[in-house]
Amino acid sequence: MKVSVIGAGNVGATCAMRLLESGLCDVVLLDILESLAKGKAEDLMDAASLIGHGNSAIGTSDYRDIVSSEIVVVTAGFARKPGMTREELLTKNASIIKDVAKNIAKHADNPIIIVVTNPLDVMTYAVHKESGLDSKRVFGMAGLLDSSRMNLVISRTLQKPLRDADSLVLGTHGETMAPALSQSKISGKPLTDCASQEMLDDIVKKTKSRGAEIVSYLGKGSAFYAPSAGVFRMVRAIIDDTAEILPCSCFMQGEYGIKDVYLGVPAKIGSEGVKEIVELPLTEDERQFLKTASDSVHKQLQLL
Ligand code: APR
Repeated sequence: MKVSVIGAGNVGATCAMRLLESGLCDVVLLDILESLAKGKAEDLMDAASLIGHGNSAIGTSDYRDIVSSEIVVVTAGFARKPGMTREELLTKNASIIKDVAKNIAKHADNPIIIVVTNPLDVMTYAVHKESGLDSKRVFGMAGLLDSSRMNLVISRTLQKPLRDADSLVLGTHGETMAPALSQSKISGKPLTDCASQEMLDDIVKKTKSRGAEIVSYLGKGSAFYAPSAGVFRMVRAIIDDTAEILPCSCFMQGEYGIKDVYLGVPAKIGSEGVKEIVELPLTEDERQFLKTASDSVHKQLQLL
């Protein structure tokens, strides 16, 4: 299998490392800065005999190298700076993304595209439109990251082992993120039965601000270990055709009463991409949060 990663920055290079070192696929690392992509790919190859994997990585700025990639991961663009919202990133990243999407469509043969560049739900829409690929083959990585963050927040708040936390975050990867408390569990029990309202409010607040918290610690750039882990889970689901249900930014066509936007929802992921968007029995409040999230993405699409 061959996976191309567009953008050899923090997220892209860490994705490449996870994919290579898990033995899942060969990787093409493409960046506008050719030398950066080459340097990172060569460095990753220097580690191959130590880790003991047999995959290859190349670094390039030439889109002809992505030919016959089954999957393309898009991480090109700017990361958030402290104090900057994901929405402010929109105008900066939109022009990059449009160019990247056209090049992918031209050089890779009907790949599956996973978008990571922020603001995620809007950039995923832009990639879908500009690439002309079926919406089932273009989706975004955010819900896995936000749900994983929520698991950590739950485990720390309730002082339970991390492996016992199983949460779900829907909506946008942004200010209108919608943690689905009704679908979240701790030690197999509904989270809402195990935490006070005050604790639940705190869990939601901390989950929503986790990305900004990491940005403020780092001082420069934004999170990349956890985002790349989210991409890894999605690529593995596609390559192994697992049909597992993962929260992803998917093109909505009436599910949850929402249309014509990309939004974080649970989806069955396999070798053809999104097999199905799964409609869970959300509470009325959670449906309303999703609607608010969808309105916010619609507004950003106007800007786009
Ligand atoms: N084509 C290819 N690569 C590009 C282009 C382009 N047109 N424009 C920029 N890049 C490259 C940059 O050269 C840089 O190496 O994208 C890379 C981005 O890397 P970082 O700045 O390290 O950003 P990173 O932390 O990887 O985040 C990338 O993912 O999680 C999101 O919010 C994050 O939008 C951001 C994206």
